[in-house]
Amino acid sequence: MAFKPADKIQDLQYFGEFGGVNPSISDSSTYTFLSAKTMFDTFEGNADGCYLYSRHTSPSNLYLGQALAAMEGTETANVAASGMGAITPALLQLCKAGDHIVASRTIYGGTYAFLKNFAPRLNIETSFVDITKLDQVEAAITENTKVLYCETVSNPLLEVADIEGLSKIAKKHNLQLLVDNTFSPLSLSPAKLGADVVLHSLTKFINGSSDTMGGVTCGTQEFIDSLRNVNDGANMLLGPAMDSFRAASILKNLRTLHIRIKQHSENALYLAEKFEADGLKTVYPGLKSHSGHELFTKMMNKEYGYGGMLTVDAGSIDKANELMELMQERNLGYLAVSLGFYKTLFSAPGSSTSSEIPEDEQKEMGLSDGLIRFSIGLDNDIERTYTMMRECMVKVGILK
Ligand SMILES: Cc1ncc(COP(=O)(O)O)c(C=O)c1O
Repeated sequence: MAFKPADKIQDLQYFGEFGGVNPSISDSSTYTFLSAKTMFDTFEGNADGCYLYSRHTSPSNLYLGQALAAMEGTETANVAASGMGAITPALLQLCKAGDHIVASRTIYGGTYAFLKNFAPRLNIETSFVDITKLDQVEAAITENTKVLYCETVSNPLLEVADIEGLSKIAKKHNLQLLVDNTFSPLSLSPAKLGADVVLHSLTKFINGSSDTMGGVTCGTQEFIDSLRNVNDGANMLLGPAMDSFRAASILKNLRTLHIRIKQHSENALYLAEKFEADGLKTVYPGLKSHSGHELFTKMMNKEYGYGGMLTVDAGSIDKANELMELMQERNLGYLAVSLGFYKTLFSAPGSSTSSEIPEDEQKEMGLSDGLIRFSIGLDNDIERTYTMMRECMVKVGILK
């Protein structure tokens, strides 16, 4: 039967302390115990339902984690203060000195920088591969490999990963498959396709109002417990804890995610089809010309579409900058990094979010310097937006 992630979120019902329709926010960093014995048991990890200290968990954080686990179809989840605050502890929990990771070469610049520059300080090495070539992925695995890491839809090239294929490889070699699903919440459900751990930057579509950072790790109870373990849990000990007020506000925004994703997807598909027909080099997983289109279609939860992210090649960084400045001036969106806002956001990843990736490697993976990454907004009249964007493109000479 088809997985229905929005129904899973809809079906969660919480009552606030005074019967409120939203759960009460836990405005405490520490919690009392009615007996000293319960405090001891909780530190030993044996007292379900007792709170210890908010770096470990808080009621508000557990509500949000539970909703996100329901959305991804995993046993449970742990929220963190940012996407990186979820990603790096998950990797460090699974890898120790001497271990090896196989990662997609087209991933968010911060994750790439962590794996390339920081993890080697701890003697954890990474091989970067073309994730769309399963034979290359398998060939990069060594006897020390512990983790296979990718994004379902990659940042910024929008490559689509074959989660079922990667999961088969991971199982065969006894690896954990970690998938960052930030670009495709609701549309794709990696855990249902065999991923062991699903990560998100909540900062993006899931929160959707560009007012806070957040992250989540969705996985088995055993793995999430290990991240929170007081003796050796990476989230507990490195301390990227989310604040309860933020958890409460993200939970409220999560309630409208299905409506927003449908609108982002509808708008992005409309623009992508128009730009492509105009002759612009356009990348969008919903276009038949996209190399991952069939794969995405096979994996997707149909009603949410192909997501809100697309790229257009403006030919050069100068043209890209000129166009982005003009579009901002005309109130079509913001020249800003990040994604998932109600307004369109645009940036040139080669010189911003992927600038951690050296220029020659950018070239090799097809990240041209004129590439503009769009996170398409919730515009009510997308035809009007298209007409105005087209005018800007004509003005800067990208279109005739
Ligand atoms: C795909 C992806 N993963 C992770 C992150 C990191 O998340 P955060 O900025 O919330 O730490 C980002 C941020 O841009 C991202 O685009």
